[in-house]
Amino acid sequence: MLIKLKISRFDPEKDKEPYYQTFEVEADPMDRLLDCLNRIRWEQDSTLSFRMSCGHGVCGSDGMRINGICGLACQKLVRSFKEEVLIEPLPVFNVVKDLVVDLESFFEKYQSVKPYLITQTYPPDQERIQLPEQHQAFEEAIRCILCACCTASCPVNQNKETEEYVGPAALVRAFRYLFDSRDDASGERIGLLDHQDGAWGCRTLWKCTEVCPKEIPVTKQIGQIKKRIYESKHSEG
Ligand code: SF4
Ligand code: F3S
Ligand code: FES
Repeated sequence: MLIKLKISRFDPEKDKEPYYQTFEVEADPMDRLLDCLNRIRWEQDSTLSFRMSCGHGVCGSDGMRINGICGLACQKLVRSFKEEVLIEPLPVFNVVKDLVVDLESFFEKYQSVKPYLITQTYPPDQERIQLPEQHQAFEEAIRCILCACCTASCPVNQNKETEEYVGPAALVRAFRYLFDSRDDASGERIGLLDHQDGAWGCRTLWKCTEVCPKEIPVTKQIGQIKKRIYESKHSEG
């Protein structure tokens, strides 16, 4: 089948503003949009810029806005679309070139939640033991591939007045450590999250959960963080 891809183009060295360019690609219905983008780059315009690596929903690098909804180009089959597909860079972030965005602010926010295990004891000779049910508590959050689709889709992050909100991706990672039985820093973590640009910045708008390609219950996890913060204050009396 013939598919048209209307792609947002922008080269800061040449263009004052982004513009759209339409390419036609002969594709198999079972091809992925990422295959079409690669074909355009290899056969029609080698200057087309986008990120990709694994091609299989693992690396999180090909997040983009596809017909208005953020997702991974490697997870979208051509057969799901009618004749023309609109492809744009992730919103919220500045465009570096075409579909490549600057994710520095995304990773700064991610780092702000201390995305690593904090312990108060010396490492044991072997691994730190955890029961399967303790692992279950945060297992879904481990699926996160940091594709940024959730943060790019969150209306709070999209609003200039509230763009400092840490965002759902960072909160998923915060959840992952806050609910890990091996972590000893819940007090410190709660302090990092208990403010308007932290967990309370979330207004339960669900867009993050709707777009997450790994089907992580993002909104539910943010709700559990809020509950944990509330309970910690309540128990302080
Ligand atoms: Fe991507 Fe989902 Fe992780 Fe957000 S929570 S960064 S949408 S994998
Ligand atoms: Fe945004 Fe998701 Fe909360 S869309 S407001 S982070 S539920
Ligand atoms: Fe790695 Fe799509 S290319 S997730």
